Amino acid sequence: MSTHDSWVEAAALDELPDDDVKGVQVQGLDLALYRVQGEVFATDDMCTHAQARLCEGFLEGHEIECPLHQGRFDIRSGKAMCAPLTEDLRVYPVKIEAGRVFIALD
Ligand code: FES
Repeated sequence: MSTHDSWVEAAALDELPDDDVKGVQVQGLDLALYRVQGEVFATDDMCTHAQARLCEGFLEGHEIECPLHQGRFDIRSGKAMCAPLTEDLRVYPVKIEAGRVFIALD
């Protein structure tokens, strides 16, 4: 049995280019999906610092750089890596099944 009750489909795996980020809406939430070396990660799309969308930022390795003030988060943990960020980013569990990407929202 899955440890999460609320897996929801967020994208098809082949919509996600490797080493890139894509913004998606899942049940009214704006999320950012990242694919790095074949693995997929999901976070909130909105930066914790101000109103900027991380899907418009720059992904380098496992870090996303915010397009507005260049704050960086680790997309595996959501950890805020540098100023001006003071708050971590929410991350979501991801699983891939039959070429579809599912996110746990609970
Ligand atoms: Fe993201 Fe300021 S809005 S670093």
